[in-house]
Amino acid sequence: MARERVVSAESQELDGERSAHSLRPARMDDYIGQSDLLERLRIALEAVQQRKESMEHVLLHGPPGLGKTTLAHVIASEMGSRAYITSGPALSKAGDLMGTLTKMESRDVLFIDEIHRLPPAVEEYIYPAMEDFKVDFTVDSGMHAKVISVGLKPFTLIGATTRAGLLSHALRSRFGISHHLDFYDEEDLVRILLRASDLLAMGSFDGEVASLLASRSRGTPRVALRLLRRVRDFAQVRSRGAVTQEVVTDALSLEGVDQLGLDELDRKYLATLVDPYDGGPVGLEAIAATMGDDAGTLEDVVEPYLLQLGFLARTRQGRRLTTRGADHLGISLDTGDDTD
Ligand SMILES: Nc1ncnc2c1ncn2[C@@H]1O[C@H](COP(=O)(O)OP(=O)(O)O)[C@@H](O)[C@H]1O
Ligand SMILES: [Mg+2]
Repeated sequence: MARERVVSAESQELDGERSAHSLRPARMDDYIGQSDLLERLRIALEAVQQRKESMEHVLLHGPPGLGKTTLAHVIASEMGSRAYITSGPALSKAGDLMGTLTKMESRDVLFIDEIHRLPPAVEEYIYPAMEDFKVDFTVDSGMHAKVISVGLKPFTLIGATTRAGLLSHALRSRFGISHHLDFYDEEDLVRILLRASDLLAMGSFDGEVASLLASRSRGTPRVALRLLRRVRDFAQVRSRGAVTQEVVTDALSLEGVDQLGLDELDRKYLATLVDPYDGGPVGLEAIAATMGDDAGTLEDVVEPYLLQLGFLARTRQGRRLTTRGADHLGISLDTGDDTD
């Protein structure tokens, strides 16, 4: 994305993601929220630890910024093993994984981010690795071609994706645990913010300002932490470090983030739905073309939160502004029958 977005749930290397590293929980006990998922993982981890086996393969899906990568690291550290990190688009041919797979020790974790972008050839290559801990590779070619099978140590594959729908059934079915991460509620975000503000030594950051900030963080830890850093800068320069409700409000309005955590891009999306599309239904491609933005980006970073707010409905005929969305924009939809 050319434009930098303070509320973007996607990671932005230049926006302190590196310093965010230290804010990243390293153990399960520091990982806040997602309690159903954590419970499932705790049980699975304990069971395999008792049996001295490797953990089942885990697929984590859900919008960006909700803690999928963090959790992969947490699982590896709970198992006392190493995590090898790669991503779907980084693996262009089957051989790319060979080195890593054969190097991995028992119970190590292989994390594949954006696993929906794995090329089909690589995907087929990892099936036997996942299922039987072996990989096949071909030596020589033509008449002399031979397939050699290499055994691997039992490892755990953790896949993460924002688009579980794009995964093949064959790949999906090879994960023992598959879990959808949901947006965080305000209470969990408050806990995440308070923990981070402690680590950042922001003395005057209390529960009240934390809830204000949490309510504008789109249910997303990455957004909450990014806004926190903006607020910290703002407070340092404008109010000698004191973080008050007013400081938070001013800092966020400077960033163009409104009461609901919506920013310029969200408002532009909604405005486009209204004009020229009269609230829809309209196809995503048409909206993207009108806005001059990429459809995939809109689908990943704008729509999930608008859907969550109930401002947007996805129908067979396309995207549609709901009555609630229209109310927020202060307009009325004359569709007559709005089913939301
Ligand atoms: N449950 C959580 N508790 C505390 N911090 C979290 C949690 N989930 C995510 N974070 C923070 O949010 C940021 C984004 O998380 P990340 O794992 O990179 O998200 P994803 O991989 O789903 O896009 C990380 O820097 C991490 O510090
Ligand atoms: Mg990630």
